Amino acid sequence: MQRLNQFDRIAGIYDVIARLVFGQSIMKAQKFFLKDVPDASVVLILGGGTGWIAKELLREKPNCRIVYVEASSKMIELSRKKISPLERIDFVHGTEENIPEMKFDVVITNFFLDMFKPESLDAVVTRIRSVLKANSLWLATDFVDGQKWWQTVLLKLMYWFFRYFSRIESKALPDWSKAIENHGMKKEAMKMYYGDFIKTVKYSA
Ligand SMILES: C[S@@+](CC[C@H](N)C(=O)[O-])C[C@H]1O[C@@H](n2cnc3c(N)ncnc32)[C@H](O)[C@@H]1O
Repeated sequence: MQRLNQFDRIAGIYDVIARLVFGQSIMKAQKFFLKDVPDASVVLILGGGTGWIAKELLREKPNCRIVYVEASSKMIELSRKKISPLERIDFVHGTEENIPEMKFDVVITNFFLDMFKPESLDAVVTRIRSVLKANSLWLATDFVDGQKWWQTVLLKLMYWFFRYFSRIESKALPDWSKAIENHGMKKEAMKMYYGDFIKTVKYSA
């Protein structure tokens, strides 16, 4: 299980590093399906990081509400500073175990499921699936191990970095797509970025 505040140390430099390594792709991939979020949706963002994605969603879908569940208090602090007004977003400092008792139209997990070992991933996906309404959407963006040499090298470096600085539990990329599909979500559409290393997928319940 993940603990709280493991990303506090790197919260201030997270976006800069991500953009240095992946350029615009890292943001473009995460923004791609935001247009498909139905108006007035109640959206769960899990492990959303510094908050730019919530700001973007509120700009694109002015009538939606967001519940932002984030394990790092620094990431929440950065997100609060970015977003104004704060009326349509509720911050929860916690993990998937602290998702409020309610149902969501959409869940967004970006570079979140990759932190879990296969043994824990199923429980995390089960938990998320249990808070989704019928006809809901799951937007997921994450890495893909396409077995190209540079992908293998980058994955190794990233797992080393996040295990060292943020103590994530996983040592390698789990099959997050399969885990989501195993829980009855149907792949509606997907798009690849950064030489097929980053995949964004829209699933429907
Ligand atoms: C790799 S970062 C990705 C951040 C953001 N989604 C992005 O792509 O820019 C993972 C984020 O998930 C948060 N986190 C880690 N474990 C978590 C958990 N179990 N529940 C909620 N958030 C978690 C971390 O604090 C961090 O902000």
